[in-house]
Amino acid sequence: MKVLIAYYSKSGGTEKLAEALEKEFRSRGHAVDIERIKSAKEHSFLGWWHLRMVKSDCDIQPPKINDVSQYDVVCIGSPNWTRLSLPVARYLREVKGLKYKNIGFFASTAAWPQIEWYILSAYLLDLTFAGVVNKRGGRIIDSILLSSVFKKWSWASDYGRKVIKNFCDKLENPIPSLKKYFLEEREIENSRLLVVILSIILLSSLLLQIFTWLIGKEFLTWSEYFYLFLIEFIAYFAMLTILTGRFFAFLGKYLASLALIAGLTIAILFLTPTLGRPIIFGYILIFILFSFFRDPKSILFTAGLVVLAYFYLFFNYPSEGILLPYLDLPFIVSSAAIVGFVAKNLQDHYLNLLGAQEETEIAKAALEVRVLARTRELKVLSESLEEQVKERTKKLEEKMAELERFNKLSVGRELKMIELKEEIKDLEKELGNSKVKNQKNNKT
Ligand SMILES: Cc1cc2nc3c(=O)[nH]c(=O)nc-3n(C[C@H](O)[C@H](O)[C@H](O)COP(=O)(O)O)c2cc1C
Repeated sequence: MKVLIAYYSKSGGTEKLAEALEKEFRSRGHAVDIERIKSAKEHSFLGWWHLRMVKSDCDIQPPKINDVSQYDVVCIGSPNWTRLSLPVARYLREVKGLKYKNIGFFASTAAWPQIEWYILSAYLLDLTFAGVVNKRGGRIIDSILLSSVFKKWSWASDYGRKVIKNFCDKLENPIPSLKKYFLEEREIENSRLLVVILSIILLSSLLLQIFTWLIGKEFLTWSEYFYLFLIEFIAYFAMLTILTGRFFAFLGKYLASLALIAGLTIAILFLTPTLGRPIIFGYILIFILFSFFRDPKSILFTAGLVVLAYFYLFFNYPSEGILLPYLDLPFIVSSAAIVGFVAKNLQDHYLNLLGAQEETEIAKAALEVRVLARTRELKVLSESLEEQVKERTKKLEEKMAELERFNKLSVGRELKMIELKEEIKDLEKELGNSKVKNQKNNKT
């Protein structure tokens, strides 16, 4: 396998990771080329800090390899700048041959990578990377994040070595099954997004609570807020455990749905009657969020929970006059049915497409193997034909030489016979002459 490792590194953290990957790929017998992406102008830490807020990429020095078509795998490395580093973004926009290429993404970060992966900064890093690569038609097989500061989570740690090994394994055998990828990897990606959302809710609600408390206008008392925070935090922690352990990943979205709806319902109870009614629309936002996952089961689960929460609110606070379940309930039930139905159809359709694509890829791989085998056979055949032609030519040449010799011999014999005949003629003539002479002598 031919591997290209292209990376940008300002202070050497990503470079170390690139070197570790190069070593691992080489130890597995693969050919590795390295491309160090360089910015046209290097900036200070603060300079980059500012630039990445206002720009999405920057000028780079011309790369050594500007067409990656010849590689089986392309690994792209970047430091985490709460987004993709600007030189790497430009490289990915300019480099040729990314279409259908299997791509691995490795990044280094200052913080603890396991936590960083579940908060906004590394999420945005992956998101900006995926945005550029998807636009260019590349296929992201895996992405890893290691720390350049914490030794325990660096490329040289046990954790780092394991992460690097898994990364190389995945790139060596990319996408065993597209359907499997959709059903399992997407599950993890969706749960990761929910964890990121929960972490944003936890952090922003805490900031809001402190702020409103400082100005003396808090919506919730500290004990009420603590109650809410605890529910969300337990869900957040449970999801983190599920995701880091990769056990029962499918449970993540149900847990998040439960935590979000329970949190919202409790907040409505606390805020009734003044703010309760407006934030009821939060249920719709949660519902919309889950419909994005195109998973009918979690959409119906969320809708079911919303209906239950509504009933709970209605039977506990009917007199407040803020809830109109006669209007809301039919709306929720019918939209859940419609969205669930559409999602189910979309998912079936998508899975069928993936199945067809998978069959095509398998057929293509089988065809490639057959073409290779046939080419090899033809090569052997043409080599043996060449041998046969050489042998026949040699034999023909020998025959020709023999014929020539024979020709020479027979022509020589003919000439000899002519010579002999001439000699006989001369002798006969001489004999005749001497006979005439003898007769003359006898007469005299
Ligand atoms: C502009 C900028 C933004 C950064 N943002 C983050 C961040 O959000 N989270 C983090 O953990 N580290 C952040 N860092 C630190 C780098 O990700 C980290 O030090 C990385 O390992 C540097 O890689 P390098 O040595 O290859 O340049 C940032 C660094 C820069 C320059």
